[in-house]
Amino acid sequence: MNQDALKRAAAEAALKEVLEGAIIGVGTGSTVNFFIDGLAQMRDRIAGAVSSSDASTARLKAAGIEVLDLNGVDDLPVYVDGADEITHHMHMTKGGGAALTREKIVAAVAKRFVCVADGSKLVGRLGKFPIPVEVIPMARSYVARELARLGGKPALRTGVVTDNGNVILDVHNLDVLNAVELEDAITRLTGVVTCGIFARRPANVLLLATPDGVQRLQAD
Ligand code: 5RP
Repeated sequence: MNQDALKRAAAEAALKEVLEGAIIGVGTGSTVNFFIDGLAQMRDRIAGAVSSSDASTARLKAAGIEVLDLNGVDDLPVYVDGADEITHHMHMTKGGGAALTREKIVAAVAKRFVCVADGSKLVGRLGKFPIPVEVIPMARSYVARELARLGGKPALRTGVVTDNGNVILDVHNLDVLNAVELEDAITRLTGVVTCGIFARRPANVLLLATPDGVQRLQAD
């Protein structure tokens, strides 16, 4: 099975997590794109979606699914999104698709975060995948120096402007011994909008697709 087939299997398993008649939170990325394609088949059984990116919004609308403003939504039972890395503690690195800030906002509102991933995303410790950090453009150099003081090697993601008009620094070489502490340390740097460590708000469920099938995992 190739990686796309595994992503599709995880995404299809997530359709069973969608609550009938409720609003669904929708993440961003290639795995979520398979989820949106499946959601289109059950669009009459949901009350609409809130989206974590302009790209997902466009795909949802093209599938005939109503996209709602998060500010008008006070009950979001389920949010489905992918990850770049995830641990058995359900801590994740996200933001490979530069949508980390809106993803973190929708995840904060949701009662249940369902992560969809192929088996390659499960790791013992975060940090091999560089940690994305969304930064206000004028703070880019200052934040890069501070990230270096934290032990990382930041690299500007060239040619990328986020949906919020900001830039992304990808931080290599960070040893993520304590994901919550590192998330806090990066997020409190002035000029940082947010970072791609999702440890304060981990996933509740991981649907992990391997050639043997889709496993449904919860935090240790
Ligand atoms: C986007 C994300 C994605 O969830 C993450 O990059 C995984 O993407 P994919 O499903 O394409 O592997 O965080 O900002």
